Amino acid sequence: MEKIVSLCKRRGFLFQSSEIYGGVQGFWDYGPLGVELKRNLKDAWWHDMISGHNELAAPAGAPGPFEMVGLDSTIIMHPQVWKCSGHYDLFHDHMVDCRESKKRYRFDQVRGRWVEYGEKKIFVSTLAEIEEELNEVRRRGMKFFKLRNKDADKLTVGDESITLDKLDSTADVLAPDAKQLDTLTEPREFNLMFKTTLGALGGEDDTTFLRPETAQGIFVNFKNVLDSSRVSVPFGIGQVGKSFRNEITPRNFTFRSREFEQMEIEFFCRPDQSQEWYRYWRDRRLAWYKELGLSDDLLIMREHHQEELAHYSVGTADIEYAFPFLPEGEYGELEGIAHRGDFDLRSHMEGKLNPATSPMEVELGENGKPKYRGSGKDMTYRDEATNEKFVPHVVEPSAGADRAALAFLCEAYTEDEAPDEKGNMQTRTVMKLHPRLAPVKAAVFPLVKKDGMPEVAQEIYGELKQHMNVFYDAKGAVGRRYRRQDEAGTPYCVTVDGESLTDRTVTVRDRDSLEQSRVKIDDLVAELTQRIR
Ligand code: GAP
Repeated sequence: MEKIVSLCKRRGFLFQSSEIYGGVQGFWDYGPLGVELKRNLKDAWWHDMISGHNELAAPAGAPGPFEMVGLDSTIIMHPQVWKCSGHYDLFHDHMVDCRESKKRYRFDQVRGRWVEYGEKKIFVSTLAEIEEELNEVRRRGMKFFKLRNKDADKLTVGDESITLDKLDSTADVLAPDAKQLDTLTEPREFNLMFKTTLGALGGEDDTTFLRPETAQGIFVNFKNVLDSSRVSVPFGIGQVGKSFRNEITPRNFTFRSREFEQMEIEFFCRPDQSQEWYRYWRDRRLAWYKELGLSDDLLIMREHHQEELAHYSVGTADIEYAFPFLPEGEYGELEGIAHRGDFDLRSHMEGKLNPATSPMEVELGENGKPKYRGSGKDMTYRDEATNEKFVPHVVEPSAGADRAALAFLCEAYTEDEAPDEKGNMQTRTVMKLHPRLAPVKAAVFPLVKKDGMPEVAQEIYGELKQHMNVFYDAKGAVGRRYRRQDEAGTPYCVTVDGESLTDRTVTVRDRDSLEQSRVKIDDLVAELTQRIR
């Protein structure tokens, strides 16, 4: 992971936000290569899920044809949205404070190991990255028991890495920044939504939130979309945009950020068909990650157990990836696909529902009135063929653009061997990104900066630039130029050499196979366009 992080910074994929001021935790900036990668990823999602979807034919595995449309709703919405959605009451993480260091941690994210010395057994916790964890626990254990290096073998460190929430008590815990045991408070709930104020006066009534998910913008626009675009059930509304969560322990590079982008679909269907649609979307979304290059053996689909599901849901599954910063055998969530029944539409219509009731009823406050009043707007759908009226059920595939970008970066990072100019094998670092995701599709080089080669290369560059993101480089040895493009993930390098001047052909080098083929300059656009699809 360290190598990936360092490449991302060195080559301009990702930078820490406000780095010149020491950075701000949980916020990341995408550099010139990163912004292209993430844009390509979001464009691929938008094309494959929304704009490129053919509503006239049922895709493989789908119960039937369906329509897909897009939306771009605001980040700040009416505060009642978050009350009816449940985020105001329920969007909590458990956190603990350390009485000694005054630091705050997310309970389920602090890891550690049991450490024994003589009769005494303590739990040493740490925020160190997973590859550093064992050494860090040992170091802190030695320090706690005041052991010298020569006594290191008298200390036993447990094999298992455990998170704090799995312990029965925190009495024997050495907190990540503490010197004494038992300094952690009981876990408390903490709302993850960022508060903000509307207007200049800033009273309590003007408080609202930065959206913690894009999904609610879709639910509150359900009727607008229905009335304005002639879609009929089953159909989906997709949205890509920023979300904000005040995560207590943002970590693992961009994996858990405080500002991130989501790519969400709310798919509206007949209640009696929702199970089939749930299965379709679960499988379709897993296949999408594989089509773009994530390996089968690093991806899993984790179906939630029956007891984890709300009673109105027929299923929830997480698509998870074996990120390299996680311990062996652990996976991190890339996307959740949830069957949400009619909870959201009815909550925005009638008032926040109590998900524990069956059939679901509006949650009442102490005065016996709805705790959070809904909009009162009719969110039912009338089937024109049967004249039936119902509140559609919803299947929600909810993906994170930053997590997906991180997974593709991790997957792409490869070290292999390639010959240098003299034919000697050298280790090379290559980002094997799918051509659709690659920030730069092709680099154009004159072999040398003379004999008319730069002029031909510049002509090719100008032509290709009309069709795809290409990069021109005439500086330094050609081998070194290839290496720089390999690190940037550029799938093809086009080189103008002596032969090009006589027969108007160039070499096209393939990043992964290193094969070079000669292509006519006049055929380049068509050839590369076909190869990067
Ligand atoms: N509307 C449903 C929803 O928001 P979620 O599981 O909380 O569900 C969906 O989030 C996806 O958003 C996650 O699978 C993940 O990819 C991404 N995501 C959530 N929190 C994130 C964070 N703090 N940093 C980066 N991505 C995050």
